[in-house]
Formats: sequence, C-alpha cells, structure tokens
Amino acid sequence: MWGCGLYDCVNVGGKMGYDSDMAEQVEKEIDVIVAGSCVADLVCRPVPHDIPIGEKVLHEIEPIQMIPGGITANAGITLARLGCKTSVFTYVGADHFGRMMRVIFEERGVDVSAMYTHPEAPTSTTAVLISDDGERSFLHAKGAPKLMDLRAYYKNMEQLESAKYFLWAYYGLNPQIEGCLPKLLEELRMRGTKTAIDAAGDGGGMKPLEEMLPHLDVYVPSYHEAKNQTGKKDVEKILKVYRDCGAPGILGVKLGKEGAVLSGADGELIEIDAVDAPGEVVDTTGAGDCFYAGLLTGLVDGYTLEGAGRLAAAAGACAVTALGGWCGTRARAYTNQLAGFVDV
Ligand SMILES: Nc1ncnc2c1ncn2[C@@H]1O[C@H](COP(=O)(O)OP(=O)(O)OP(=O)(O)O)[C@@H](O)[C@H]1O
Ligand SMILES: [Mg+2]
Repeated sequence: MWGCGLYDCVNVGGKMGYDSDMAEQVEKEIDVIVAGSCVADLVCRPVPHDIPIGEKVLHEIEPIQMIPGGITANAGITLARLGCKTSVFTYVGADHFGRMMRVIFEERGVDVSAMYTHPEAPTSTTAVLISDDGERSFLHAKGAPKLMDLRAYYKNMEQLESAKYFLWAYYGLNPQIEGCLPKLLEELRMRGTKTAIDAAGDGGGMKPLEEMLPHLDVYVPSYHEAKNQTGKKDVEKILKVYRDCGAPGILGVKLGKEGAVLSGADGELIEIDAVDAPGEVVDTTGAGDCFYAGLLTGLVDGYTLEGAGRLAAAAGACAVTALGGWCGTRARAYTNQLAGFVDV
C-alpha cells in the first residue's frame, strides 16, 4: 500500500491539505501511535573488531539474526506486549525485509495499517557487528523512513489523531524533518493527542528542540543527549533549560543503570530507581525506547507519574536482558511485579 506523497516539507506551507479548523476531535481508539524509524537489524556475532575484515577473509559466526529495530519496533512491540493498543506509522521498502517487518509487527499485536511500503526506497538496514566483549560496530543504510516528510504525516492525520499518545523518534538523527515537527506537534495537541519524542545519537542541539518543547507532553532523553543539548551537567539544570522553553508536561532524563529522574511540573523532581534486570545484561541498546513504552503505558492507564516511571524502569530493565531492543520485553503482569506493584 502506498498512500504518502513524497514532498520536501520545507516547501510546504499552510495547512498541509488538512483543514484544522473544520475537523472535529476524533475518538481516541488507539492508545499510542509510534512514528519514525523502522530498521532491519542484522545481528552478527562474534565479529572481531581488531582484525580488518579485508579481502576474501571468512569469519565464521553464529547464525545471523534479523531483528526489527528503531523506535517503532522497540517501543511499538513493547507497548503492545504491555497491553496498549498500538499502531506504527513508518515506511519500509518493497523488499523481503519490508515484508518480514510487517509480519513480525503483526504477529506481536501491532497495527501495521500505517506501515507503508515505499515503491523505490529500500527498507532501512543495519549490520550490527558485535565483538566477543559486546562492543558494537554498525554498517547502516538509511532507507525508506528518512523519506517521511511533513506532508506524509498530515496525510495520515486521521490515524495519528486517533491515538491518545503520539511518540516520535529519533530527534538528533532526522534533521530533514525536525524543523517541521513543532507545527505537527502543536496540531496534534490541538486535536487532543498527547505528544512525546525521544532523541538518539548525540541528541542534536536545542534548535529546533526549543520550538518543540512547548508542544510536548513527554520528553525524557538520555543523560548523554540531554547534556549535549543543553550544555548542562546537572539534571536539575538540564530540566530547567527545557522548562524555560515552555515545556508544559512531563520532563525527565534517563540515567542508564542508575534509573531516571522525572518531573511533572516546574521544580518537581521524582527519582526513579533502576530495577534489577531479570537476567544477565546482554544488550542495553533500546532500553530507552522500552522505558518510553513503559512510561506511556502507565500514563495511558492513569498511573501517577511515579508509578508510570516505575513501570518504565521495569520495562527498561527487561530490555537489557536480550539481544534486540524489544526482545527482552515481558508480559504486563511480570513487568508490574518487577516494578514493585503488589496488587497483581
Ligand atoms: N543495566 C541496566 N539495568 C537495569 N535497568 C537498566 C539498565 N540499563 C538501562 N536500564 C533502564 O532503562 C532505562 C533507559 O535506559 P538508558 O538510560 O540507557 O536509555 P537510552 O540511553 O535512551 O537507551 P537507548 O538509546 O540505548 O535505548 C533506564 O532509565 C533504566 O531504568
Ligand atoms: Mg535512547
């Protein structure tokens, strides 16, 4: 199915063909729609990093696995496992990987009606080369998701606004659309859909993040990203920078195995302790995405911010126990128990 035009968002003005004055608020049938990256990760291990691959060198390795990655897979599949009605909005290619992605998402209960097959661009792929000691090198082909522009989002506005929460990632890695996001986030909030984004890489800078923050209900980057964005080392000061940009909602910083700090309002700081991982720590990649999945699940279910944060920490702790961002995700009852909720 192909329903999204390919237009450069910077050339698009006005209402993007969607009349915001005319539309009534759509019933929120979906809990969370996750938009953005969708990558076929080809996980190869063990790959020695100290020996050049070189010509005609054959490294015998374990069977190569294809594991969907990116925010749509890591957060999307985890959200579904935790019991949220979840959709993804992304592009895959008209290739084997694209077909496999669709099947894997569907099998795990994620609605793929807005997973579009791009007629030309391939599925985004990454060869993840993992050494014996767990270090990772990456060979990456960007592929179809990088072609998602603002017009595509507006074309799918009906689906986006049918969700209680819109989660987009990754800020810092998608400069081609980041400048357009403040307007989209504002529009979604006007339509009663709450907004969340996550960052990645070095986190980019405060521009255009400062224009997004007034339209964000949830923003909890990693410490590394937050420090780079704000130039501050202290978590309280980091949050103050975001709050001073007009962020109205939940802010926070993810702190890896130290847990996280969340803030529901100016001056409030809630420390969220990390949860002991329910198994050996195998791969921490994607823990942040799963943290978001737990957090949004808690918020959808009406938990206090602290409760949602504990569920998020439990989901993050599960994530680190398996190769692949979402593969360590456990069922809701188990995750609730890990979070310390005794009534399950
Ligand atoms: N080793 C660990 N043991 C237990 N919990 C962990 C561990 N690592 C991460 N977590 C949990 O997962 C959450 C998110 O992890 P992290 O801070 O690494 O996010 P991130 O940097 O965005 O990760 P990524 O970008 O790789 O997905 C943490 O706040 C913590 O609660
Ligand atoms: Mg992250």
